[in-house]
Amino acid sequence: PRAEPCVLVIFGATGDLTQRKLIPALFSLANNQCLASDFQIIGIGRREMDDARFREQLREGVAQSSEIRAFKEAAWNDFASRISYLSGNFLEPDTYQSLAERLAEFSTANRLFYLATAPSATPVIIQRLADVGLEREDRGFSRLVVEKPFGHDLESARELNRLIAEVFEERQVYRIDHYLGKETVQNVLFFRFGNALFESVWNRNHVEYVEITAAESLGVGSRAGYYQESGALRDMVANHLLQLLALTAMDAPVELDADSVNDKKAEVWRSIRPMTSDEVASRTVRAQYVASTIDGASVPGWHEEPNVPSDSRTETYVALDLRIDNWRWAGVPFYLRTGKRLARQVTEIAVHFRQPPLSFFPCQDCLQSNVIILRIQPDEGISLTFGAKEPGTSRRAVPVSMDFCYHSAFAEAPPSAYAVLLLDALRGDLTQFTRCDGVEAQWRIMTPIETAWAACDGVSLPTYAAGSEGPHEADGLLEWNGHAWRSIGDAQWACQI
Ligand code: BG6
Repeated sequence: PRAEPCVLVIFGATGDLTQRKLIPALFSLANNQCLASDFQIIGIGRREMDDARFREQLREGVAQSSEIRAFKEAAWNDFASRISYLSGNFLEPDTYQSLAERLAEFSTANRLFYLATAPSATPVIIQRLADVGLEREDRGFSRLVVEKPFGHDLESARELNRLIAEVFEERQVYRIDHYLGKETVQNVLFFRFGNALFESVWNRNHVEYVEITAAESLGVGSRAGYYQESGALRDMVANHLLQLLALTAMDAPVELDADSVNDKKAEVWRSIRPMTSDEVASRTVRAQYVASTIDGASVPGWHEEPNVPSDSRTETYVALDLRIDNWRWAGVPFYLRTGKRLARQVTEIAVHFRQPPLSFFPCQDCLQSNVIILRIQPDEGISLTFGAKEPGTSRRAVPVSMDFCYHSAFAEAPPSAYAVLLLDALRGDLTQFTRCDGVEAQWRIMTPIETAWAACDGVSLPTYAAGSEGPHEADGLLEWNGHAWRSIGDAQWACQI
């Protein structure tokens, strides 16, 4: 169904996110007839420019976007006629007066405020919106979409939640995590709870360990300033990876609605005991990349990147061994890893099942453990590996797999994560957004790790060569339990495009 009529107000309209993600996603929604005919966009930015210049800037982003398969000029012109620009400083009350006046000109009173700004701007924008009464829902809805990072530790997240709650009700607040809009991420719950086969073995009695990987071959691009402050733990684990973990580990929700799903996720996060500083030392690894080559091209090390201080201690890689202390998962390690400048881009969840209790086979390593791999990106699919008898006189079991590949099973390419989530926000569906208690529960797990790391400032960080599989210290994290990471350079994956 189409979204209701609405004016979308984007703060940070001249930024990278608006140009690369939001506008291409909205344009594709318009092309698919998902937006109401009087849907409007107002971009707010500090820079002075007129509507025509702003539209021209956005057009470039859309034309270059890989998400728009066939760019049609006429469709763009029609879409662009709904976009206007308001130049103003986020700190100044005048900006909000002008915004309120502009909003009053539209026939719809539904508003969605999207904060695509630096996190430091969030409190003041919320306050100023309230000063001109734009949070009120007298004649239509008023919703707030907040991008990550949502605070930088438990205390700041609490403070931000408190500030937001002074102005907006929780049902008006959409804390966005774009991983939740990915088709394959949404499929995790369907796979688990839409098939009786897997759920019955999805627990500590059958699962040996779980690996969640988000490896990137890209570096930080033009975002070194932000990343230098954040690091891999805050940038990827505190949100995206913990969401993947929650979807993998949560119990079945009572219904597929926002509160039921968020309740079950929060239970998972609350079951992860915050680590002591000794546990941080033995169950986390952080590292930085050093210069090397990726796909034959040389890349500089983290310390040589523009705008990165030569003594930066920011981690560009992190691996963790997390434990979920509940009845379903007690004793099962959940290993998480993410990093920049690794061998290739791979995001996947791998569930490793226990080995059979006895071997009838003459050789030692014939026992295969079954693994279910949910490949989130780039070559999306699901694979179940198991052991089969090697043909002929051999009595060896060899690993084989049953594979499902999105690109061969479904003709249609999935919509972008931002398109999915923007449409949800326009329709008022909070299921794929993080609730206030969820972000606090996430920081409760992350903050003790950051604190323990900050306390050992003098210790030099491990390194890994750009284009590699990560630091060897991360292997030690699993070897200790008799486990091993899957290779991210895995050429065997059946769904390669
Ligand atoms: C963002 C991080 O949230 O996610 C980036 O800030 C990261 O550093 C990106 O590159 C990864 O998203 P995706 O969709 O490319 O996996």
